[in-house]
Amino acid sequence: MKLAVLVSGGGTNLQAIIDSIESGTITNAEIAVVISDKPDAFALERAQKADIKTVAVERKACASKEEFEAKINAALEAEGCELVVLAGFMRILSADFVNKWQHKIINIHPALLPSFPGLQGQKQAVDYGVKFSGCTVHFVDAGTDSGPIILQKVVPVMDDDTEDTLADRILVQEHIAMPEALKLWAEGKLTIEGRKVKVKA
Ligand code: GAR
Repeated sequence: MKLAVLVSGGGTNLQAIIDSIESGTITNAEIAVVISDKPDAFALERAQKADIKTVAVERKACASKEEFEAKINAALEAEGCELVVLAGFMRILSADFVNKWQHKIINIHPALLPSFPGLQGQKQAVDYGVKFSGCTVHFVDAGTDSGPIILQKVVPVMDDDTEDTLADRILVQEHIAMPEALKLWAEGKLTIEGRKVKVKA
């Protein structure tokens, strides 16, 4: 199974995926390409260190969102990718792109969806005063963080948490959740029925 991982930043979730494949926790998947909208993203260095092909597609170097997504799509097709993994990719993909890759895009979000979608999920949780938050791995649909949920991990929110301390606690769980979801996908254990993702035993 060939994966593409789309990133914008530090790439710790990408690293968790690389480590799970290298350690043999995920056996039947490989990362065919890492694509970043930021040419200086540290995630690209992580990929290069692991001998994974990298592609940078800058939004501002493209005349339109269509051109930006067409370049990403071309890179995905050139590598024969079967699944697109959004691992800290900080751009909203168009409905056209999402529909073309229907049920073939997975995202990780740093909150317990449907609470706190969009930007700064951790800050939204702290500001709201919830006692628990966490992360969600889900299939991507045309909405923002609204697709069928594969799995979630929960963490407590402490009285003295800041956005950063909560983000650190959630990130530890993200690094468990994303490889777990990819392993289930790669083993063919996920089926989507409407809004629900069923996990085969
Ligand atoms: C992660 O916390 C991820 O959940 C979040 O960006 C961070 C990327 O970290 N993604 C979003 O907020 C998407 N809406 P990483 O680059 O170290 O994996």
